[in-house]
Amino acid sequence: MNFNLTEEQSLLRQTVRQFAEEMIAPGAIERDETKTWPEDIVRQLGEMGLLGMMVPEQWGGAGMDTVLYTIALEEVCRADASVGVIMSVNNSLVCSLLDAFGTDDQKGKYLTPLASGGQLGAFSLSEPQAGSDASHLLCRATLDGDVYRVSGTKNWVSNGEHCNVVLLFAVTDPELGYKGVSCFIVEKGWQGFSVGKPEDKLGIRSSDTTELYFDDMPVPVANRIGAEGEGFRVALATLDGGRIGIAAQAVGIAQAALDHALDYAQQREQFGRPIVDFQAIQFKLADMATETEAARLLVRQAAFVKDQGGAVSSPAAMAKVFASEVAMRAATQCVQIHGGYGYIRETGVERLMRDAKITQIYEGTSEIQRVVIARDLQRKG
Ligand code: CAA
Repeated sequence: MNFNLTEEQSLLRQTVRQFAEEMIAPGAIERDETKTWPEDIVRQLGEMGLLGMMVPEQWGGAGMDTVLYTIALEEVCRADASVGVIMSVNNSLVCSLLDAFGTDDQKGKYLTPLASGGQLGAFSLSEPQAGSDASHLLCRATLDGDVYRVSGTKNWVSNGEHCNVVLLFAVTDPELGYKGVSCFIVEKGWQGFSVGKPEDKLGIRSSDTTELYFDDMPVPVANRIGAEGEGFRVALATLDGGRIGIAAQAVGIAQAALDHALDYAQQREQFGRPIVDFQAIQFKLADMATETEAARLLVRQAAFVKDQGGAVSSPAAMAKVFASEVAMRAATQCVQIHGGYGYIRETGVERLMRDAKITQIYEGTSEIQRVVIARDLQRKG
């Protein structure tokens, strides 16, 4: 078994790392402080082919695989997890869903601009009463001739404010439970579509998260993805891939925490020597490095399974639950190693702690990942 990166993987990592260090990292603290959406950076990600990485070239994408995607996403998130979530939603929730389940007409019209960086997408499943219990939707799509009329409220929509296109899940038949949920492609600006105020978040503050409101919005039948009632399975299958992306985001945050902590520990002197000489600090760094590497391997494995077309729900859930918890621990230890300097905004490491927290929550909480893993064990056992 060869754990070394291939030449293509190494080159991609080097290219994205250089871009992230030069163009993303320098403004990350200020963007976080001012909640400034990284418009120029998102445009450049699109130009570099990083917004539709796994989409075939035929549809405007970079034609890469999931392993390459996780390598690039980790590097972006090592610099700024806010930029990472924008990239991850567009790649693994929006483009992947359209690529896997869209018709050629839908791909030509929507996937190509989304994958090539001309447009940005959002994925809108959650509602105020439907978070972990994701099929408990109230947003309603009622067939009326050749359109559906959509009414309802969605929340926690990443990219909601800055997107052009939303993949929207709504109930077409309330009698059927999850079998009555369907998926639609809707465009920002359509009559009856409005965007709520951006949420004021603990972390990933320069990405936007909003509510979306739909008031009798007409959606052409041609914009339904798959058959009526297939939406929930489409959402969960897509989230399997999304969770690998969030796991890669968590590894990027953990790696950043380790890098900052090691750097600081080598420079900071107390009791007449660099604090890295103390075993109390060495043990923390060793644990951070070990756990980050283990999380990275779980991410690579899940990405590999996905690329091979294998059963990916459980590997993706394992990667996400482990990597997100590693990111939280590593970021907390990074602040601890920095002492008082870690607790102020200026040094930027407290941002890692705030950013890490969301990886344990979105695209399925750690508790939901454990449910997915345990159900898989029961099925196999
Ligand atoms: N892929 C495809 N189909 C799947 C699936 C998967 N991974 N998992 C389940 N299904 C199918 C089941 O087979 C079943 O269909 P059949 O009856 O035809 O077999 C159907 O879906 C319902 O499955 P369950 O009975 O298991 O459904 P459930 O109601 O018990 O829910 C759950 C399961 C795992 C708890 C699920 O609701 C879940 O993952 N919840 C978390 C929701 C979530 O992750 N939200 C994230 C929002 S998006 C976000 O955060 C993005 C962002 O902005 C960053």
